Amino acid sequence: MCFRYLSSSLLLLGSLALAADHLGKPGSKFSKYRPTYHFQPPKNWMNDPCAPMKTPDGKYHLFYQYNPYDAIWGNMTWGHASSSDLIHWEDEENALESDQPYDHLGIFSGSGITKGYQGKPTVGYTAVSKLPISWKIDYPLDAEQQALAYTDDNGATWQKLGVVLPTPPDVNRTGFRDPFLFRSSTFDSLLAGSNRSLENIYMTISGGTNATTKGGRLWLYKSQDWINWELLPAPFYGAAGDQPLNKFSEYTLGHNWEMANYFVLNEEEKANQWHTVIIGVEGNSKYNTIRWPIWAMGRIQANNNSIEFVPVISGILDNGIDYADNSFYDPATGQRILWGWVTEDDSENLQIRKAQGWSGMLTVPREIFLYQKTGVFYTNQLQSHIGGLDFTWDETQQTNVISTLGIRPIKQLEHLRDQVDVELHDFELGHSDTTPYITSGKRSYEISAVFDFSKDPTAQAGITLMRSEDGKEETTILYDPVTANMTITRSRSSLNPLYANTTQWGTFPLLYTADGLEKLELRVFVDKSIIEVFANDRFALTTRVYPTLHSSTQVTLNLAKGQSVLVEEMTLWPITDRAFLNRDK
Ligand SMILES: *[C@@H]1O[C@H](CO)[C@@H](O)[C@H](O)[C@H]1NC(C)=O
Ligand SMILES: *[C@@H]1O[C@H](CO)[C@@H](O)[C@H](O)[C@H]1NC(C)=O
Ligand SMILES: *[C@@H]1O[C@H](CO)[C@@H](O)[C@H](O)[C@H]1NC(C)=O
Ligand SMILES: *[C@@H]1O[C@H](CO)[C@@H](O)[C@H](O)[C@H]1NC(C)=O
Ligand SMILES: *[C@@H]1O[C@H](CO)[C@@H](O)[C@H](O)[C@H]1NC(C)=O
Ligand SMILES: *[C@@H]1O[C@H](CO)[C@@H](O)[C@H](O)[C@H]1NC(C)=O
Ligand SMILES: *[C@@H]1O[C@H](CO)[C@@H](O)[C@H](O)[C@H]1NC(C)=O
Repeated sequence: MCFRYLSSSLLLLGSLALAADHLGKPGSKFSKYRPTYHFQPPKNWMNDPCAPMKTPDGKYHLFYQYNPYDAIWGNMTWGHASSSDLIHWEDEENALESDQPYDHLGIFSGSGITKGYQGKPTVGYTAVSKLPISWKIDYPLDAEQQALAYTDDNGATWQKLGVVLPTPPDVNRTGFRDPFLFRSSTFDSLLAGSNRSLENIYMTISGGTNATTKGGRLWLYKSQDWINWELLPAPFYGAAGDQPLNKFSEYTLGHNWEMANYFVLNEEEKANQWHTVIIGVEGNSKYNTIRWPIWAMGRIQANNNSIEFVPVISGILDNGIDYADNSFYDPATGQRILWGWVTEDDSENLQIRKAQGWSGMLTVPREIFLYQKTGVFYTNQLQSHIGGLDFTWDETQQTNVISTLGIRPIKQLEHLRDQVDVELHDFELGHSDTTPYITSGKRSYEISAVFDFSKDPTAQAGITLMRSEDGKEETTILYDPVTANMTITRSRSSLNPLYANTTQWGTFPLLYTADGLEKLELRVFVDKSIIEVFANDRFALTTRVYPTLHSSTQVTLNLAKGQSVLVEEMTLWPITDRAFLNRDK
């Protein structure tokens, strides 16, 4: 065992942090739970991330669903920030506001493309002129129309082109929004017939129908000139209402889809490309959630002048509160990067939101990629996960190659790390030991930890966070290798009963190879009231917690069950860097 404390008076930091924290002073409700290194507006409500993209000057842009007037949903506008590194952001003028008859009730979500209309950076969005819109009520005809805007000045200002796609009247819709713009030479050649020089622009629209074949739909449109759009006859992807996500999942594909993205993972390697969609699903789940983000990977096929997506494997993009993820491909780093919206988990309490003065943020930027692992043995435990894992038998090794969706925080986030606060190696965590309290005294930090369960695969271990000195508040991250269940227990996260206290969880199995049981590799991002947990580059779980006590900053390793577990490594880096350096603290 080896402990290394780089800051000397570590245990004192808890009380020092107290003095520095402006709890109890005016404005404290605003700052108490406000994250520092996560993306969010200067104040007020935000939801979906929109049109992450790069302009020709090399700058990144990120827009977001924003209410300029209040901390609750309404008056949908595109807020805007720009960045040169995807970590630090500068506020820009709102990019799109309601000022036309066709969008007078809101500028809903959409996507962007660097070389768009007349070769200029272009965004597609949903222009709203009728409300309310919900999959649960009659759809008001023409409520959501698709519109474009472009920029002549690298994103500083945006010129509206108007509606390019009115809502077709002829189906029983539950939604028709969130245009996703892209090009595809693969689609071009599948549709071209003999004309090889045809280059289309494509746009998917998310929604659903409650007609006889009810369920989520992804419609595919093509255009030659950005202005005239033609619907391909068959939906790109569709699901019967409440159809299971896959054979082994208790999640369904819901009633209505939002914010779908389509792209190809591992595009460079022709023989091992995966056509991929990510979708925000609306419906009623077994787990009492009303929306959840899914991914599906598979192939495409041409059919009757249409292109259809055929899923092969699928899963949950983030098992927690994350939703409406939106992505872009950065050619500079070869990464497909996405952000999701993280709302408040405060029982939608209006008083809390008004007093806080803001609501919602984005996840840290994440990379999604084709995850592959060779030499994997098939175990009984994998049985209930095969809907999300593709197996290819390797004849020579007599083992499997598994493929699935990879998800991890982008590499650039390591720049946020301050000097290491706590670092330990090869620490045997057993019931006989008193577990080390690693009091960071910090409210924003990253932890990396590697757990080796091979000695006792029936053990359950993890990290307890945001624990108060008296133990009255704490939040526990725990992994159970037997059930493959990763849980975040929030029953004692906050003494304030208005905040959610349910356990958030998701499953992902550790894999067996010739080297034995894979180690659990955790990355945990904590920022005041948000916790993002990543595991083994293929699992994400985001949650919100609202500790009330000043001392709720303790961090400790946790062995909940079993004899012992080897903590091969655990490192805690405080993060004092901020996402928006130009804002007042
Ligand atoms: C914001 O939206 C609300 C509700 O739709 C509306 O009553 C109000 O006039 C809007 N405020 C502004 C400043 O547009
Ligand atoms: C679709 O939903 C609307 C609103 O709930 C309802 O009026 C209509 O009858 C539904 N149509 C079908 C075919 O279920
Ligand atoms: C829409 O739903 C109605 C029943 O509510 C049905 O009669 C009609 O055929 C549906 N339209 C389509 C295009 O499915
Ligand atoms: C192929 O498509 C392009 C673009 O629409 C068009 O200009 C050209 O005339 C077409 N060629 C043939 C042989 O149809
Ligand atoms: C092909 O599409 C046309 C036009 O939408 C439709 O009438 C026809 O039934 C479709 N054929 C098949 C085999 O799906
Ligand atoms: C994971 O644990 C949670 C909390 O105990 C529980 O509600 C859930 O059913 C478990 N999931 C599985 C698949 O065992
Ligand atoms: C969780 O919150 C609900 C609703 O406020 C409450 O009824 C319940 O007692 C709480 N559970 C715990 C363990 O605090």
